[in-house]
Amino acid sequence: MKILTTNDNFKSSYINGVFTSKEVDTFKVFNPANNNCIAELIDGKRTDVQDAINAANNAFPKWRALLAKERSEILNKWYNLILEHKEELAYFMTLECGKPINESRGEVEYGASFIKWFSEEGKRTYGDLIPSPIPQKRISVLKQPIGVVGTITPWNFPLAMITRKVAPALAVGCTVVIRPSEETPLTALALAKLAHFAGFPTGVFNVTIGSDPSEMGKEMCESPLVKKISFTGSTRVGRILMNQSSSTLKKLSLELGGNAPFIVFEDADIDEAVGGAISAKYRNSGQTCVCTNRFIIHEKVFDDFSKKFISAVSKLKYGDGFDQKNQIGPLINSKAITRVKNLITDCEQKGAKILLSNSSQNSNYISPVIITDIQKDMDIYNEEIFGPISTLYKFSSDTEAINMANSTPYGLASYFYTNDLTRAHIVSEALEFGMVGINTGLISNEVAPFGGIKDSGFGREGSKYGVDDYLNLKYICTQI
Ligand code: SIN
Repeated sequence: MKILTTNDNFKSSYINGVFTSKEVDTFKVFNPANNNCIAELIDGKRTDVQDAINAANNAFPKWRALLAKERSEILNKWYNLILEHKEELAYFMTLECGKPINESRGEVEYGASFIKWFSEEGKRTYGDLIPSPIPQKRISVLKQPIGVVGTITPWNFPLAMITRKVAPALAVGCTVVIRPSEETPLTALALAKLAHFAGFPTGVFNVTIGSDPSEMGKEMCESPLVKKISFTGSTRVGRILMNQSSSTLKKLSLELGGNAPFIVFEDADIDEAVGGAISAKYRNSGQTCVCTNRFIIHEKVFDDFSKKFISAVSKLKYGDGFDQKNQIGPLINSKAITRVKNLITDCEQKGAKILLSNSSQNSNYISPVIITDIQKDMDIYNEEIFGPISTLYKFSSDTEAINMANSTPYGLASYFYTNDLTRAHIVSEALEFGMVGINTGLISNEVAPFGGIKDSGFGREGSKYGVDDYLNLKYICTQI
């Protein structure tokens, strides 16, 4: 029997086991493909967040007291329900964020994989027995759940950014308050419905929706009951949350902006590099933190790479994400369209060379654009593009390529193509990024530690390291 259908008419936050809100005002959610209003939901405010935090706090003692394998069973039920409702979840995602439907289906599987992974990892939060320096003392270390966790997640991965944060938290015994983007609340509410039927005890899993991210985020940051916040979004907002969390000295994980380089060395297989470039750039229409922002190509292979890349990119179809033939969907909203168009205009005005222009007549879309001859004074040189524009730069030595790649305050993902093993080691060690893809444009999966350094934030999600941020270490010294 289907628990979730595409006709589900979600209305409000999910707090303490019920869909409810103290508010009466509403906010609208729009389909970015055509600007149609797809839902009108109760506009939750700080009081809803407070209620959710209280519910999570009350539920914490019992949830943490369960055996890890009991929590794991509930997580597994949630995982199975998510996969059973793959089509329905993918529908909500494409409807509210515009992602091509096949990518939405892929995101359901990607997002679910974190639940499966952490349902197992939660059983392995081993402590330590440390050899003592004093004969009568025994020294041990326990790992204990941190408490109520607040998550603040973006619209570009409406499902996977939630599961990547809450699965480890729930698996080790924390309770959660989720604040999804106001652009994509439906997927989060659909996840809540499935979590409800999976059997999470009342108050363990809460979703608060509303149109004002700053007020809701502030409530989470300032609440002494919330022990940790995990945020994915811009570096600007990450800084605000960090400031607001200082009064409660909250533990934070911040997965922030990126400015990913993609280097093609002269010995690389150019066809392979073009394939990797397409994956690294056009996932979610260029709207991911790990999307390539700068293609840095050796001068000897620049013409060959550009020719093949332009040819491959020209074949990408853009349009409504529900149409299976499209690989590029709309950008999330008109603000995003204006920002990306301004980047292109700035390049044009300052003399960059447009190798492939925006051909879209529909104002919700930007067709893939390729630009070269970019100068340092152009906005695109420093900004995270977050759209289907590729920028091509030339280099002549490995040192120059590494310096170009590292010359950014960001440090999330980086990629390079080479067939030289020595170069592969040297370059991967020299790149100042949290993640490096060698001869691949796709690096995200549940077993790997996702995260950045520098202005891209801190904390790791996924992998065996992904539970650490939700645990406190307790040192116990016993005199015998
Ligand atoms: C992101 O853009 O923040 C996430 C991308 C990913 O999980 O690969």
